[in-house]
Amino acid sequence: MKPFNGTVLVVGGTGRTGVWIVKRLQQHSIDYHLFVRSGQKALELFGPEVIDKLTIGSLEHADEIMAAISHADAVICTVGGNVTDPEALPPSAIDRDGVKRLALHAKKGGVKHFVLISSLAVTKPEHPMNKYGKVLMMKLEGENEVRGLFGEPGYSYTIIRPGGLIDGPPLQHALIFDTGDKIATGVVDRSDVAEIAVLALFTPEAHNLTFELIQSVEAQQTSLAHYFTL
Ligand SMILES: NC(=O)c1ccc[n+]([C@@H]2O[C@H](COP(=O)([O-])OP(=O)(O)OC[C@H]3O[C@@H](n4cnc5c(N)ncnc54)[C@H](OP(=O)(O)O)[C@@H]3O)[C@@H](O)[C@H]2O)c1
Repeated sequence: MKPFNGTVLVVGGTGRTGVWIVKRLQQHSIDYHLFVRSGQKALELFGPEVIDKLTIGSLEHADEIMAAISHADAVICTVGGNVTDPEALPPSAIDRDGVKRLALHAKKGGVKHFVLISSLAVTKPEHPMNKYGKVLMMKLEGENEVRGLFGEPGYSYTIIRPGGLIDGPPLQHALIFDTGDKIATGVVDRSDVAEIAVLALFTPEAHNLTFELIQSVEAQQTSLAHYFTL
């Protein structure tokens, strides 16, 4: 039996966390659709089996978002602007306006649950990362829109605020969850962030929850589901 009935739209599926989200959805046999800027990049990463699962577009454009949302019952959003590239769109356009536009059209399009990958320290305006286009402040505005729209009755959200993202395999570390943005620093594997995002779709304790996530000691895990109930 599938743990989640319906199709999950992965926004940012060709990013480094996005690739893991797709792998973990596949692992749980959950149907998915991808909203990506480059179809070619998606085919290179996932192979020809995703050709019918692609909507090409950018979070800048409402019509492209709406085309993707027509395939979705839930959304996992893992987009992020490249803050060190002066040519790239600024965080105000992606992490704030893009996420807000996505959340608005997702709700209009009938999506019931929205999972957002945000960041540790979004409530700290003095954080050094805010030197880059106020990226953390922009992410907080994106979060606020998701909480506002999907906190209403009949809808739900999960906002995951990971520490620094690293690239190891999943289920190799104990995790630390916290709320209130109190964790000063830490890292977590993108693969575990992805697994937590997928579990959040069908774990009632994850609904209407905003939490921080870092890893602690190396310790093989059979599942990460119990962290939601600690
Ligand atoms: N790096 C860290 O240490 C860190 C720490 C905490 C939180 N985070 C956050 O965690 C999330 C995932 O990080 P990551 O390192 O996996 O990110 P990443 O590899 O840079 O991937 C970002 C994704 O966003 C997509 N994207 C960018 N602009 C877009 C637009 N206008 N429309 C549609 N998609 C767009 C990119 O598309 P393309 O594939 O076409 O480039 C890419 O797939 C991000 O929100 C990031 O800010 C990162």
